[in-house]
Amino acid sequence: MNKPVQTHSNNRPIVSNATAQDASFSTGHAAKPRNDSLATSVTYPSSSQKTKSLSNDQIGTDSDAALTRTHSRPGWWKESVVYQIYPRSFQDTNGDGIGDLRGIIQRLDYIHALGADVIWICPVYDSPNDDNGYDIRDYYRIHEEFGTMDDMRELIERAATYGIRIIMDLVANHTSDEHAWFVESRSSLDNDKRDWYIWRPGEQEQPPNNWTSFFGGSAWQYDEATGEYYLHCFSRKQPDLNWENPDVRHALYEMMEWWLDLGIAGFRIDAITVIKKDQQLLSAPYDESKGSVPVGSVCLNRAGITDFLHEMKQQVLAPYEALTVAEAPGVTIADIDGYVDEEHGAFNMIFQFDHVDLDVSMYERAIYKPWQLSRFKQVLSNWQTATAERSWMALYMENHDHVRSVSKFANDAAYRERSAKMLATYYFLMRGTPFIYQGQELGMTNHYFTLIDDYRDLDSIHMYNEQIECGRSEQELLDYLYKRSRDQGRMPMQWDGSAQAGFTSGQPWLQVNPNYTEINVAAQLNDEHSVLYFYRQLVRLRKEHPAFIYGNYKEIYTDSEQIGAYTRTYKQEFWTVWCNFTESTISLPDLMSGERMLGNMDDHDSGTLRPYESVIYRTIQAN
Ligand code: NOJ
Repeated sequence: MNKPVQTHSNNRPIVSNATAQDASFSTGHAAKPRNDSLATSVTYPSSSQKTKSLSNDQIGTDSDAALTRTHSRPGWWKESVVYQIYPRSFQDTNGDGIGDLRGIIQRLDYIHALGADVIWICPVYDSPNDDNGYDIRDYYRIHEEFGTMDDMRELIERAATYGIRIIMDLVANHTSDEHAWFVESRSSLDNDKRDWYIWRPGEQEQPPNNWTSFFGGSAWQYDEATGEYYLHCFSRKQPDLNWENPDVRHALYEMMEWWLDLGIAGFRIDAITVIKKDQQLLSAPYDESKGSVPVGSVCLNRAGITDFLHEMKQQVLAPYEALTVAEAPGVTIADIDGYVDEEHGAFNMIFQFDHVDLDVSMYERAIYKPWQLSRFKQVLSNWQTATAERSWMALYMENHDHVRSVSKFANDAAYRERSAKMLATYYFLMRGTPFIYQGQELGMTNHYFTLIDDYRDLDSIHMYNEQIECGRSEQELLDYLYKRSRDQGRMPMQWDGSAQAGFTSGQPWLQVNPNYTEINVAAQLNDEHSVLYFYRQLVRLRKEHPAFIYGNYKEIYTDSEQIGAYTRTYKQEFWTVWCNFTESTISLPDLMSGERMLGNMDDHDSGTLRPYESVIYRTIQAN
């Protein structure tokens, strides 16, 4: 493999005074640009210098009393807090209504003050933007609407001066249909890259089989040039790469190395559980009588996938000690070993989907089912328990594919601030690395769009049109999209009370939530009781007390439909976290004891939880 000249480990960068050479990457689509002229200004400590995490002595070992036992190995990424940026909606600096890399640079102070150590940036690569950047045309270029590769390099360097690492989104299941690989692949049946994608002939002028894509409609697209169909698990402009072909894998690994050499710390790995296709079903003919088969039911986490994942780990991720967090729908607790076992797992951590998808089903399009607190707690707790010994989780309540958590799991009306803090308390102090999605730290909310034309997300628009055709009403579908559309989480970041929330001086690509005059960063910085301040306090609490990182977790009040509560135990420390998910006042005599360490109400009464109240207690046990 043609490995780039300059290699680094991924640990905390030391920024030197060396001036970055100007590297204008006129890559074309096919050629891989050399990276050695780029990585001149960020260097990393040697591996002996790198571990900034707590030592085994600090976190407790098996020789401690039972309460103090922890099986976790220390790791800087376990002690970190990740801030997720959807660049398109974060901060625009050139008035085109689209956020950009310079906007992220401008807001590094803000992210640092929040206490984040890592930033995950959603795709900023060159893309025709069918799926807002998750359809990559060139992995080696920054899309001009986001800036330049120089901006990217500057961002990595400037973030490093704050001790912040950058991870990029790695989209490796598919490319854009405008990627040079696909352009070649579709050009003829005997093109060298034909087998880089998944092509099949049709069956009597119908698609090869009845799979439907995640975004609805057939997962196959007919291509006139060669008279065959290609597979796309997402949109028709996102053809799936054929991971069975080693050349594809190696081209991807090379690209990953190139980015790691640039100085990023790792990847959030998109749709990775889709890469292994069911080879048998791939060739099953179309059978109309069987109805449609969602790709989610046949392409997720197939047997044999871990061979690919482990190869990727061995060839790229491990040598670079890259931080990896994989998007993992379809992965169950039974699969933990292959994915996140401390030694044998392919990744550091995964995003499981159980709690965020309690309100939908893969088989029923656009049907909303109310979620239940006991189930919500149960699925989170099951993951906590299952990963307690040898694995690690990514903790999250929101991201760019989901609605605002205060609107979904709490109360975005009368109790917005209090319940946003309660929800934050609940997930943030579990065992795992917490992720905060831009705006979540303000308690940003959903907004009811009254027209389908206000939506921008291809999935929402496609679903709406498809369901209208099936006879469903406009109102019913707008109600559904209010509760589930990805655009709910993609509205621009609310920086201040000025026009367009301080996000842009132009027209934003997606409307700003009108409540920005009330909910915004500037206002919350002026209010020590704001959701933003509370998040800062939570981050600090987690950093100051290893119990929240390495301590044991145990759920209490398991069956309650009102209270979410758990303990974290560590050495002599016994912590309890209490959250009221309802509008009722609840008495819990006897159980709340110890020192109150943080809560979302200043006038907390011990033994009582008022509506949406949360409180954290600590007891230090005598030897
Ligand atoms: C998951 C990403 O988070 C989502 O935004 C995207 O549409 C799909 N993967 C396809 O890349």
